[in-house]
Amino acid sequence: MYLAKLNVSHFRNIAEADLALSPGINLLVGENGAGKTALLEAIHLLARGRSFRTPQAKQLIQHNQKELLVRGEVSSGAMSHSLARSKSSTGANEARIDAQSVNRQSRYAELLPLQTLLPGIGDLVLDGPSIRREFVDWGLFHVEQNYLGTAQRFRKALIQRAAWLKDSPPEDFTMDPWATTLAAAGAEISTWRRRFVDALDAQFQQTLGRMQAGLTCDLRYHGSGFSEEEALEQLAASYERDRRYATTHVGPHRADVDIRVEGAPARTVVSRGQAKLIASAIALSYSAELALRCGAQPVLLLDDFGAELDESHRQRFFAELRTLGCQVIATTTDQPERLVGSSSFDATRVFHVEQGSVTQNS
Ligand SMILES: Nc1ncnc2c1ncn2[C@@H]1O[C@H](COP(=O)(O)OP(=O)(O)OP(=O)(O)O)[C@@H](O)[C@H]1O
Ligand SMILES: [Mg+2]
Repeated sequence: MYLAKLNVSHFRNIAEADLALSPGINLLVGENGAGKTALLEAIHLLARGRSFRTPQAKQLIQHNQKELLVRGEVSSGAMSHSLARSKSSTGANEARIDAQSVNRQSRYAELLPLQTLLPGIGDLVLDGPSIRREFVDWGLFHVEQNYLGTAQRFRKALIQRAAWLKDSPPEDFTMDPWATTLAAAGAEISTWRRRFVDALDAQFQQTLGRMQAGLTCDLRYHGSGFSEEEALEQLAASYERDRRYATTHVGPHRADVDIRVEGAPARTVVSRGQAKLIASAIALSYSAELALRCGAQPVLLLDDFGAELDESHRQRFFAELRTLGCQVIATTTDQPERLVGSSSFDATRVFHVEQGSVTQNS
């Protein structure tokens, strides 16, 4: 599945743009402020119903216009579907698949699965644990049918327990009405996460090797309570502390994914460029794992990917993308050849973006 055509009108500084995209690598090239990221945002809106830069749809509508419209054609073998979204300044939205109004968001994500690598992707390695938990949970959402229900049950019990802990709870742990729900749902989430991270690590080792990052790095799920009994024991042991602070100290909401370089926590040793390389390799492994588990190869949106990476690492990354065979839509202010390398350049489709208008290189 890939995005074969994109038509954007009145989206930020883009009055009108028509792109016939390649199933391989596409580069959007232009100066600062030309409208390159805006085009990626338009694709994101089409697939996910929102921008990755702002929750306010009105900001996306071109100044002095009433409505934006994004249309796309996704293709897979002999099959093709058209997707369309419009947003108007009055707040009215329309979303259509093959000219039929479809409100179920998951249908758009199925037809156009995306993975977006924004300039801050290195934060996946450098930031605190919540960004890594979210990243893994987004994968579980795709590969584990019961994930959403279990995660909702867990979160609800966590919130209700916090309120209960505030209200002079009994000293006896066996009187805790939330413990069994938390232990059962928590053990399920922890087990899924560990399995997913193990699979991701296997892919990651291969990807990182091919990218010749020159780093020994591995991913491990750092959690506890993988069975209901174990989780209950930990809740019991933490009960006194939980009562004192009116919060639950143990469970998957406190877990992390350890990213270690030569045995040390990556965030304490890597450079910004290395963090970006590691995070990009994780993202590619994630795409490969999702493709394997649910048969959908996401389209990769890369915004200003070249920044902070040296030429040889950038080029090896693009060579890896070609091996994966997924569609890539990337922005750059650089010479296209310098971003992807001469070996990938022949297979790259280049679009020039200039003050909101787009032309394809012939
Ligand atoms: N609602 C809007 N209407 C018109 N123009 C807008 C609107 N919102 C943003 N812009 C302008 O659209 C342009 C698009 O910016 P965009 O972020 O896509 O640039 P870019 O090509 O990615 O640049 P860079 O290389 O600096 O990242 C900017 O000049 C911005 O000021
Ligand atoms: Mg940009």
